[in-house]
Amino acid sequence: MSELYHVLGAKQFTKDELEQLFDNAMEMEKVVASGGTRAQEGRIMTTLFFEASTRTRLSFESAMHRLGGSVIGTENAAQFSSAIKGETLEDTIRIVSGYSDVIVMRHTDIGAAKRAAKVASIPVINAGDGAGEHPTQALLDAYTIRKEFGYIDGLKIAMVGDLTYGRTVHSLSYILANYQNVMIYYISPDNVRIPDNVKRYMDEKGIRYVETDDLDAVAGSIDVLYQTRIQKERFPSVEEYEKASGKYIVDGELMSRLGKQTIVLHPLPRAGEITEEVDDDPRAAYFHQAVNGLYIRMALVNKCLGEARK
Ligand code: CP
Repeated sequence: MSELYHVLGAKQFTKDELEQLFDNAMEMEKVVASGGTRAQEGRIMTTLFFEASTRTRLSFESAMHRLGGSVIGTENAAQFSSAIKGETLEDTIRIVSGYSDVIVMRHTDIGAAKRAAKVASIPVINAGDGAGEHPTQALLDAYTIRKEFGYIDGLKIAMVGDLTYGRTVHSLSYILANYQNVMIYYISPDNVRIPDNVKRYMDEKGIRYVETDDLDAVAGSIDVLYQTRIQKERFPSVEEYEKASGKYIVDGELMSRLGKQTIVLHPLPRAGEITEEVDDDPRAAYFHQAVNGLYIRMALVNKCLGEARK
């Protein structure tokens, strides 16, 4: 039996794989524009979401439908699966492996997707594991950057906000580590700085980065401003959350200080850290970014399931 292709973390991707995936996602844009495909007809995706989601769950489900497959699942697995009766994650995954062909899972616990993959007999895709990683978000983020600029090498990217609990910045850092001469500015309040394990990885890969709390100092020289939400639900106390919240707001005034070609990304949802006045600015790319999630996830599902059926 061939080895299963799981998507568990962003470090697993090589540059060649990324570029192939982005090319395939580009093809998926054409597939969607021409009304979809039957490539995955007869295949079933299970979506198991132990945490809330709008974009990730719905874009994966849309991706499977656009590929001609079917979807089963639970959007509130903590309450509406037998987890509430005490079933272990491992048992849930063993059971779901018998009902479907691929599992897309979001969980509260760091490392949950890896635990699931150890017992699954079908591919597992990590749709976010607590404050750990969100690899498919990072793939669509990098895809968006490549689409907007035509390349990633050499870009200056500022990641702003909650860099401790914001799992997307961890995964995006790992993806960017595949590219040449990128420069990353980690800009955050002091109590939510980028974790040491992420910095160690960037050091190992020779990626240049700077940690600062001064967004104004770099605003005029960056290519990408990647804004994030302060992840209120993950803080140990309200006091700690309040220390981090409201520090960095992307508004009309900040936009006036960004370069003319600088793009603004956000994994979304937002909670006030980008004001609505920014939405009509041509540099605001966060809604296109969310749509790109569909194409990347179609390409990923094809990779996990194989493309034998047309
Ligand atoms: N970006 C992201 O993961 O959004 P959702 O939480 O809505 O899935």
